Amino acid sequence: MTTQTIGILGAGKVGTGVARQALLAGYRVLIAASGDPKNIDLIISVMAPGAKAATAAQVMEEADLVVLSVPLHKFRTLDPAALAGKHVVDTMNYWRDTNGDMPELEEAPSSSEMVLAHIPGALLAKSLNHIGYHELELDALPAGTPGRRALAVAADDDATRTMVLDFVERLGFDAVDAGDLSNGLAFEPNTPIFNGSYDKAGIAAELAAHLTAERELEPAV
Ligand SMILES: NC(=O)c1ccc[n+]([C@@H]2O[C@H](COP(=O)([O-])OP(=O)(O)OC[C@H]3O[C@@H](n4cnc5c(N)ncnc54)[C@H](OP(=O)(O)O)[C@@H]3O)[C@@H](O)[C@H]2O)c1
Repeated sequence: MTTQTIGILGAGKVGTGVARQALLAGYRVLIAASGDPKNIDLIISVMAPGAKAATAAQVMEEADLVVLSVPLHKFRTLDPAALAGKHVVDTMNYWRDTNGDMPELEEAPSSSEMVLAHIPGALLAKSLNHIGYHELELDALPAGTPGRRALAVAADDDATRTMVLDFVERLGFDAVDAGDLSNGLAFEPNTPIFNGSYDKAGIAAELAAHLTAERELEPAV
């Protein structure tokens, strides 16, 4: 499957950083912030020349893959109907200083599952949350380069996982299949994967350690 149009919700540090790498990789890129596209025309022309400022509705309508790069506490502003049936990748993280208290997170096993509960029709993956926006450019390398940085991808839908693995590779990183969306817990803030920088074998080892620890926590039957 070849992804042609990347639609990014969020025209901030991550949104424009992902846009730059996606443009280099040959994608068509649409970006929306929360208001009129005219408000971000200038910033897009400077930060991600070649991308097109759009409304959030246009982004969700036209994108083959939608990238969620808004502050996590804004997740309820995402339109569940417009995202139903779409391939979506969640790059968001929870930071109390930025996002404030979010009691919803206490009910959810992971932040991506909390987001999915709001957009239940979306085919949601988690990735690109565990790399600094500036490193998207600094650390990207061609496939096959020894020591190439790796990033994990978790998703429940197989086609979405395949699409996001391919996207991450094309952005310049080895992509590691982390399995189900719930495994995104292994690369949330304050985990070894989040705090570190790993090649493919390193991320695979950390994911395996996470799964082993989860199994040990399961109640015996
Ligand atoms: N900074 C990093 O290095 C980094 C790395 C990985 C992941 N992340 C995560 O990625 C997310 C974005 O981080 P950031 O640093 O890029 O934030 P940021 O610079 O504050 O940008 C956030 C953007 O989201 C837009 N936005 C808010 N609600 C929206 C909506 N409903 N639809 C479309 N756009 C909307 C804002 O537009 P308006 O101004 O118009 O509201 C703004 O352009 C966060 O969850 C963060 O934790 C950050």
